[in-house]
Amino acid sequence: MTADQFCRLLQALVCSPRVQSQWQISDRGMPVFAHTIDVALLCLDAYPDWRERFPDFRLDVVLIGCLLHDLTKVNARIGDGLSHSHIMTHEPAIAAGEAMSALDEAQSTVCVWLDQEGIDHVWHVVAAHHGRWGKVAPRTPEAALVHQSDNYSATHHRTAPVDANDVLPLLDRGYKWAQIGQLLGVSRAIVKSRLQDACRAERVRSTTELLGIWREQGAVRPADDEHAEQIERARFIVDFARRCPESLLERVRPCLPVEEQSLDPVLDW
Ligand SMILES: [Fe+2]
Repeated sequence: MTADQFCRLLQALVCSPRVQSQWQISDRGMPVFAHTIDVALLCLDAYPDWRERFPDFRLDVVLIGCLLHDLTKVNARIGDGLSHSHIMTHEPAIAAGEAMSALDEAQSTVCVWLDQEGIDHVWHVVAAHHGRWGKVAPRTPEAALVHQSDNYSATHHRTAPVDANDVLPLLDRGYKWAQIGQLLGVSRAIVKSRLQDACRAERVRSTTELLGIWREQGAVRPADDEHAEQIERARFIVDFARRCPESLLERVRPCLPVEEQSLDPVLDW
């Protein structure tokens, strides 16, 4: 597969209805689609180091695995499927099977096919992405990296891309917490917790006092430094995810081998 063909396949995968359907569900306020892109970005950041440690490292397998690893969450939340964590602990073949069928569709759309070894490898990456919390342990560097990045994204970046400075202008206009949640695309609980975070950071006891600071200064401290940084990262991820596939392809292209002017250039992953 050439670098161009791989980019076409990646684009088809990102744009496929199944992968896009991950926008419809969120974990702690972070759309699952944005989380999958975050996992891909973390893998891309780590890639130079892993390529050096493992000369045959396959970035194509990793990126495809990232995009497809959480597809069963959609059916579990808006269909009648088993929960994703149950699948990963008891029947990871279901997650891998769903990934394979999404991959098949994308491949047929662009007439680009991954080699059989790559397909088997993606199967393993998806089946093993929960690491020791799942039934299948990662047995390859590619599976280990996706698991590590997935775990990091879930524990460090999974938060709603909203803070008190988004909430206060709406509160000032008389909206209720539930309405603000609807307008910002998050739950009422997240609106409440963001206001509490800011009250703690500004050392005030009530939302009324917080609103006073916001009216006076135009902004408040949204949270403690660590949490504020998490929210900023979440904003970046969601914005980056909205600009996909272009934004992702821009990040991926420099990592792909430059093709020589041969008739049938072949990627050396
Ligand atoms: Fe995940």
